[in-house]
Amino acid sequence: MKSTKDRIADSHSSLELEVLYHISQSMAHKHDVAELLNAVLDIMETEMGLLRGTLTLRRPDTDIFEIQASRGLSELEMKRGQYQLGEGITGRVAQTGAPALIPDITKEPSFLDRTKSRRQAQVAFLCVPIIHQQEVIGTMSIDRPTANEEELARDLKFLHLVADILAEGVSGIREQNEEHESLMAENRRLKQRLDDMYHPNNIVGNCSSMRLVYEQIAQVADSPATVLIRGESGTGKELVAHAIHYSSPRKNNPFICVNCAALPENLIESELFGHEKGAFTGAMNQRAGRFELANGGTLFLDEIGDIALAVQVRLLRVLQERVFERVGGAQPIKVNVRIIAATSRNLEEAIREERFREDLYYRLNVFPIHIPPLRERRSDIMLLADHFVSQYNREYNKTIKRISSAAINMMMAYHWPGNVRELENCIERAVLTSTDNVIHAYNMPPSLQTSEQTNTSLLPADGASLSDMLKAYEREIIVDALKKHRGNAAAAARQLQTTQRIINYAITRLHIDTKRYK
Ligand SMILES: Nc1ncnc2c1ncn2[C@@H]1O[C@H](COP(=O)(O)OP(=O)(O)O)[C@@H](O)[C@H]1O
Ligand SMILES: [Mg+2]
Repeated sequence: MKSTKDRIADSHSSLELEVLYHISQSMAHKHDVAELLNAVLDIMETEMGLLRGTLTLRRPDTDIFEIQASRGLSELEMKRGQYQLGEGITGRVAQTGAPALIPDITKEPSFLDRTKSRRQAQVAFLCVPIIHQQEVIGTMSIDRPTANEEELARDLKFLHLVADILAEGVSGIREQNEEHESLMAENRRLKQRLDDMYHPNNIVGNCSSMRLVYEQIAQVADSPATVLIRGESGTGKELVAHAIHYSSPRKNNPFICVNCAALPENLIESELFGHEKGAFTGAMNQRAGRFELANGGTLFLDEIGDIALAVQVRLLRVLQERVFERVGGAQPIKVNVRIIAATSRNLEEAIREERFREDLYYRLNVFPIHIPPLRERRSDIMLLADHFVSQYNREYNKTIKRISSAAINMMMAYHWPGNVRELENCIERAVLTSTDNVIHAYNMPPSLQTSEQTNTSLLPADGASLSDMLKAYEREIIVDALKKHRGNAAAAARQLQTTQRIINYAITRLHIDTKRYK
């Protein structure tokens, strides 16, 4: 076989050189194999006047050569054009790596005419292999008006040249793409690893605001810094506090929780700091407070915004000096405790109203984490719903498989004032009441049923069973009648020309809350 250089040296025609020049130029600019092949055929069509041209490439890891670009073939003809190794002339060129030259295709029995495109006679067919690193990666063929032997031989030589250049171009682009692909895969893998690294695995949610929360947890966990978690009730503040503790170096020491809102003012001091025997009526024994219990670990002060001003003063001192005395005691106790506080209250407003000390606020607000309400991260609703379905499946030994589209629509439309906690309760109830392994709209609590929805969104979507659709329809009819009669079942029964017993039975069966319509 002659080298490309030899062949270029053999090529005398300035026209041919011009074609080669154009081809190499387009190779430098095309980054897509199909684009390159098409550009090459364009050039050959305009500059050489070929009747038809076809470029095939081997489908990776197979013996099949597929037409990648062509001129003079219709889309359908292109689709038909696929060659097995050794099959027909193109297949034989692919197999042997030797070119084929047929001066007149009507006289050639092995001509398959796969694409069924050739009608006229007196056409010559030339086919050369596209070889890269001793392997045939494709073929290139052209039809041209028949000519004398010498002219055809010259064309064949020229085609060889184009094929050699193409081989470089195609493999170059493929290598680039492979490199790009593997870089992208590596990038995805690293990103996944980063996500996993940050992601506390018991917290569900993938929206950007939750990813920021995970990042903040990871940032602050290692340090002893005080953390203030803010967010509406039920958004997962306690869960985040847990996640911080369990990803911190203190994870093998206690995590102690105090709900400041739940404790009466006169008890909270002794709860937090403990008391000495006889410190107050009922203090029969000396008792350690939560600060002492949390020594070496984390103290979680939940609902810190609800704590009384008197206790705030003492708390501030502990935060500043890490020293306190038990109630009724004089001996200072030193502790090593990491504080995480949480609140759903507007502390800034509480400061303005002098219900919360500003100095305590600054002590607590070292590293704030804000958890957004569920209605601001709707993309997490389904993730959380699925999570709770599996959780309660396990807990109640149920096998719920899916949530109906109508139920999904209701969940997506609802404003979730109780946030994730409310969603969790809603799914728990639905798991319990479902009888057919599907959570339907009517398994949802009444609060979701009436939330300014259009009637249609309550109907099961296409694909629901007849009985589900009937149930939903029945539910709507009854709810409508109840609305009209302000929740009066007897009146609704009269309107619907049925008995009160049947209506009451339906109300129970369909989980309709008549109180809502009063
Ligand atoms: N992102 C979440 N992924 C999984 N469960 C969550 C998530 N957020 C909240 N929960 C669950 O919702 C309930 C309420 O969360 P909680 O941390 O007590 O909220 P908060 O303390 O803000 O009132 C808990 O059962 C908790 O496990
Ligand atoms: Mg809470």
